[in-house]
Amino acid sequence: MKINILKNYWELGSVVADIVEHALTLPEPKLVLPTGSTPLSLYKELVNRDLDWSTTTTFNLDEYLMNINHPYSYHSYMKKNLFDRTNIYPDHCNFPFRPTLSFEDKIYANSGIDLCILGIGSNGHIAFNEPGSSFKSRTRVVDLTEQTIKDNAKHFDSIDDVPKQAITMGLGTIMESKRIVLMANGKHKLNILNVAVNGEVTESVPASILQNHKNVKIYYCE
Ligand code: PGA
Repeated sequence: MKINILKNYWELGSVVADIVEHALTLPEPKLVLPTGSTPLSLYKELVNRDLDWSTTTTFNLDEYLMNINHPYSYHSYMKKNLFDRTNIYPDHCNFPFRPTLSFEDKIYANSGIDLCILGIGSNGHIAFNEPGSSFKSRTRVVDLTEQTIKDNAKHFDSIDDVPKQAITMGLGTIMESKRIVLMANGKHKLNILNVAVNGEVTESVPASILQNHKNVKIYYCE
């Protein structure tokens, strides 16, 4: 695994948009999609390209345990930044739900994931698999760490509004994707990214599990 360094945030969005655009040419593409600050340039670029999403099915990585109609839920984020701005069918857009194993069944029923796009948290989490998550973990309800709550407070009116729990796709689930792309943006991510890519493969750095996957690309920009 190596870190591909890109010029800027817009190039990050454009390079990953090329990969998504290619995936959309598959017969019935299945994508896993992230939220957060990092993929915003990707979604903007994808919307600008005016692609055909009519045969695509998506699975989001995670969702807070909160009212999904809340403006700061990941359902709302995806509608605003991508789904409402493409021709994707709302019925084809899936988010982790309870019972969590039914969500997993839905992925299997769709014959697996072609492409999984990930971000990385400053503590090395991928999706909401916080440090210490089992490498075999499946979709489940998790407690968010203090660090993640602090990092994500920027998306809420106050830190007290950040939900303390979420439903996340598991590390075992993510690793079954045929292809994985990890996007990271900002100097504050570089240290953890280096640890994940070059350090020990350990459950205390969830993203280090990606060293065990055969088809991973990592893109970083300051
Ligand atoms: P960010 O979040 O893109 O808002 O930095 C990434 C993550 O926590 O996975």
